[in-house]
Amino acid sequence: MAENSSDRPRVLSGMRPTGKLHLGNYIGALANWVKLQDKYEGYFFIADWHALTTNYADPSRIKLNTLDVALDWLAAGLDPERSTVFIQSHVLQHAELNLLLGMMTPLGWLERVPTYKEQQENLATKDLTNFGFLGYPVLMASDILLYQAQYVPVGQDQTAHVELTREVARRFNSMYKTDIFPEPEALYTPSPKLSGLDGRKMSKSYGNTLGLTEAPASITAKISAMSTGGQRIRQSDGGDPELCPVTDIHRIFSAPEMAAEMKSACQKASIRCEDCKRAAAASVCATVGPIYEKRMQMENNIEQTWEMLRASSAKAAIRAEQTMVEVREIFDLSHELGTVKRYFGVSAEDPHDLSQNAAWWNIEDQTERARNLRDQWQSKIVPREVQLSQDSQIVFSSPERELEEPFLTARKKRVFVAASRDEQTGGSWEFEIPAKSYEVWTLLAWQKESYRLHDFILPQKVFSLPFSKAKKSLKKDEKIPVTVRKEGDRFLLSIHGSESVDITELLSNYEPLQ
Ligand code: TRP
Ligand code: SF4
Repeated sequence: MAENSSDRPRVLSGMRPTGKLHLGNYIGALANWVKLQDKYEGYFFIADWHALTTNYADPSRIKLNTLDVALDWLAAGLDPERSTVFIQSHVLQHAELNLLLGMMTPLGWLERVPTYKEQQENLATKDLTNFGFLGYPVLMASDILLYQAQYVPVGQDQTAHVELTREVARRFNSMYKTDIFPEPEALYTPSPKLSGLDGRKMSKSYGNTLGLTEAPASITAKISAMSTGGQRIRQSDGGDPELCPVTDIHRIFSAPEMAAEMKSACQKASIRCEDCKRAAAASVCATVGPIYEKRMQMENNIEQTWEMLRASSAKAAIRAEQTMVEVREIFDLSHELGTVKRYFGVSAEDPHDLSQNAAWWNIEDQTERARNLRDQWQSKIVPREVQLSQDSQIVFSSPERELEEPFLTARKKRVFVAASRDEQTGGSWEFEIPAKSYEVWTLLAWQKESYRLHDFILPQKVFSLPFSKAKKSLKKDEKIPVTVRKEGDRFLLSIHGSESVDITELLSNYEPLQ
């Protein structure tokens, strides 16, 4: 299985399920995706809901086309061990985020996306006055933002969509004073153009394509029958290779020396078109022959491919859900009753009692454990009506990996939240705090034996002196080790070995901080 949260930057891209891919799709997108897998954590999905925005009247081949696209992807080298290859409609969070982003996306933005009017004109046989089609870019923004992807490899035709995604992200972050959505960047494929068999753009609707997983004999036959763009009507005439679409094929698929040789032989009329084309076909087949073979093999076991897609979609949903938990919180739609209970005078179960969350004990990943603690602390303990400060930014960290996730409001005050569990040491918690200036520290100390959460909210005056001393004695960027120790009923704080300070009074200290 792919490493889960890797440090590689995330790329995400999708294709609508339009059936088997042609060589233009391969050169213009897929081949690039395959390469990106080394350096990036890839999310690649089949945008079946997007297909329905234009094909809603005849959905009969959505699943077949989805499988066809998937088989071509895998045959071409998308590797489900390294990347997450999934189906959009199997991850319901795309629809949920689409709906929520729809709440705050101005209609005018959508009407102004150039592809909106263009497509309505180009696909005049279809009625594209539907709500779903207008919302196409919002759904696409949801696809991208759901995984907080930094990069989106797409063709130039998607520029306006990626730009809209950035605008939606920016509007969301500023409207809700958060920074959960990074603004994604388009990664354009540096691909030379590949024209179709008749010299026009390669496109299904022109019927001038070469299939990515077409049988080599058929590819060879099609290339042999290509028109030369009026070049070399007589064999003895020299030609202008730049006017002949066979030249594109050599440029992309033949070794550079061969491509150059073919050009000059064309100009000098020292090669027959037939041979030039045969060489071009051989070059194409050298690339796509193995892809064809792999596809043929996979077609013998499509259940396996389908199961993989389902499993990967389930995995994608786990990542997507992480984002949605935060998004729901922002819209006050979290599934916990949480602090609303207070308004009804319900004294909830003791929120400092973690015994209901015993499953957390088994979570290996420190960061995730710490995140759970933070979420518990935020949703159950911090009273909604108590503000840590007028404008606080909370920065969260686990001892092992700094997450730096602001979560409440993000403006002036920097509040640092760190979580720790006493492991073997019983009653002693280690924290690491970045050597940055925070105005408030919140230390969440989880006591394993008693299932208790001790939360300390420390104003700056408690830690500023020893903290600045520690900063001086440690290297730049080194984190400051902070220990909280329980002695009897008292809790003692020590910063990088400084003299202990009693912080018992600051337990659950939710007074607004100055
Ligand atoms: N609109 C894209 C296309 O037609 C497909 C797509 C849907 C997509 N969602 C996406 C591409 C998210 C990149 C990222 O090619
Ligand atoms: Fe086209 Fe090749 Fe014939 Fe030149 S020699 S016209 S490039 S097929």
